[in-house]
Amino acid sequence: MRNGNQAKPRQAMLGMTVVILLMLMAYAYGQIVGNPRRGRAVFEQYCTLCHGSDAKGTGPLAKTLPVPPADLTDCRRTAEDPVEVTEGTIRHGGSYVGLSPVMPAWQGKLTDEQIADAASYVKTLCSDPDWVPGELNLPRPLITDKAYPEQEAIVGSRFGRGPSKDTETFGTIEYRINGLTNVELTTNYLNTRPDGGQPHAGLGDSSIALNRVVAFSRENRWLASAGLELGLPTGSHSRGLGSGDLVWQLFARAGWDWRQVVIQGDAILALPQKNADVKSAIAYDVAIGRYFQPDPRMQITPMVEFNSETPLNGPSRGETKSAVLPEIRVKWLQWGAAFGVQVPITGARDFDTRPMFDIFYEFTF
Ligand code: HEC
Repeated sequence: MRNGNQAKPRQAMLGMTVVILLMLMAYAYGQIVGNPRRGRAVFEQYCTLCHGSDAKGTGPLAKTLPVPPADLTDCRRTAEDPVEVTEGTIRHGGSYVGLSPVMPAWQGKLTDEQIADAASYVKTLCSDPDWVPGELNLPRPLITDKAYPEQEAIVGSRFGRGPSKDTETFGTIEYRINGLTNVELTTNYLNTRPDGGQPHAGLGDSSIALNRVVAFSRENRWLASAGLELGLPTGSHSRGLGSGDLVWQLFARAGWDWRQVVIQGDAILALPQKNADVKSAIAYDVAIGRYFQPDPRMQITPMVEFNSETPLNGPSRGETKSAVLPEIRVKWLQWGAAFGVQVPITGARDFDTRPMFDIFYEFTF
């Protein structure tokens, strides 16, 4: 037992050495950054046969191929992927990202440096300076809204458990109109069993939102957006499935990736059209987590969210409902799934626990 004390400095030294070695390796790895100018030369020599000298997929071989070569100037195709994924595609061929193997693998034919150079050149081909790059597509929290103009389909459920039971199953389609803007359509199916009341099930309220990035920095890895959401009373008010009113929501969202530690937040001001028995409210959410990337195509992100909502009028005016939500998100290429359990931390609450999950697919057209 006593010996442990003597061994400590040596263990500490060993530990330090390992940490320094790991940092050096990470630094060395980080140094294999491609040079787009050299990459252009690689591209002209090896890639134009199929992709064309304009990189739009118009090379002399293009017509003879079973799959048209990708238009690499299309921001939707090449600005969405982090450079490591583009590099992997060039190294291992199209099948690396689920594309056709007609896109050949260049490992062995090109050096690592040439591959990194070609990848960095491809990443310069999206010519829209307002295209918020895929590097800022931060891991999606279960509740906190994302600033990034996503294009994806999401389905999920939230199981409110306590004296009453409310199960909400939602579907969302998000479409990216341009580099900065997307629209989000959401509808949901509700199953409510109020405490001692009649159970009801049916269509709940729907919403349509416009989200626009107002500022972003690729270098410092942050972005901020603002927008407007309109809640539509598609759920039956008399059966407890909907608000029975149009609800306007003004929102701001932001995200920051600091060395793989990701902080995201939103603030929402909800204003019902006629203020009858629907409350106006202010809500905000914060999510913090860290992502791990065992492979450039994969992202594993444990996160914790803090969700809060305060009614601004009505009998429960000023009565804040807050909850914490530990969760884990796993993403593989365009697919993602998350699971978490939300727990209230204030006396005012709608449930005792609320397990929830979602699944999404990012589509490209
Ligand atoms: C034999 C023809 C051919 C050659 C040569 C070729 N490619 Fe491709 N490449 C393709 C095809 C076809 C696709 C589209 C595959 C699909 O859509 O399923 C593609 C797709 C890609 C993609 C993926 C775009 C996306 O949607 O993410 C990248 C990146 C790429 N090529 C880069 C290169 C680079 C760099 C070179 C030269 C080192 C190169 N290609 C050479 C045929 C070729």
